[in-house]
Amino acid sequence: MVRKATMLALVAVLLSSQSAQAGSLVRPARDVVGGLVAPQGKFPWAVRLSMGCGGTLIEPRVVLTAGHCVDGTGKNESIQVTAGVTDLKSRRAQTARSERVIRAEGFVDETRGDDWAVVRLDKPLRLPTLPLAQDPIGAGAFVVMGWGQTQEASIQQEERLHYATVPIVPDAKCAAAYQKAGVTLVPEEHLCAGSTTADACQGDSGGPMIGHGRRGEWVQVGIVSWGLGCARDGYPGVYTQLSTFRPAIRAAVRKLR
Ligand code: ARG
Repeated sequence: MVRKATMLALVAVLLSSQSAQAGSLVRPARDVVGGLVAPQGKFPWAVRLSMGCGGTLIEPRVVLTAGHCVDGTGKNESIQVTAGVTDLKSRRAQTARSERVIRAEGFVDETRGDDWAVVRLDKPLRLPTLPLAQDPIGAGAFVVMGWGQTQEASIQQEERLHYATVPIVPDAKCAAAYQKAGVTLVPEEHLCAGSTTADACQGDSGGPMIGHGRRGEWVQVGIVSWGLGCARDGYPGVYTQLSTFRPAIRAAVRKLR
């Protein structure tokens, strides 16, 4: 999901970057999320939220998503959660509703960091939960997933969960690219990843980027936050860096119990 103001800002940047390249060939991004449909059960903690975002079950009764996916902190009974399935129309889907939301205190908009929120569900879900990464991550490839668009120009969301392997892009390189587009990254709060063949896209926000923990288990290292278009050359996807926010997220989860 994209908030209107940010969307407009990004669209403006997009248009100007396109006109700057007028004459050169702007190739449409293909295969944005890498094109693989997740088999049922592969990512059991991945959930879809009714406002058009992704999320993860981090406790039986708590979903982690992006700050820009929710309205603010407080009582909230309007978010419908679909869980436990790759195919959202499957009869095996488990559903729950939001009861309360805590959004990161400093949240302004996704480009300025603090892009996380936790949602308390009206009932616990009987599904595995995803642990949050403790350590800042180094280089490497990570996996992103979501029910969002598979191409920048697509107008539809997917019925089935897609996932792709995305290479980490160093902060300095990512910051330099987005500085040209008028956005200043916050290196400790943002992680960049993606390539011209694999990226998250609209509708994937709030969903996880995962990597392997110390014992080889999946851990969540990022939250899909924003990007300039999808899979554009030189403009990787930008994620909320979970190692930075883990203590604050855990404190928020305790308040939700
Ligand atoms: N803000 C988008 C959303 O609300 C996520 C965009 C991610 N874009 C990217 N190129 N990685 O769904």
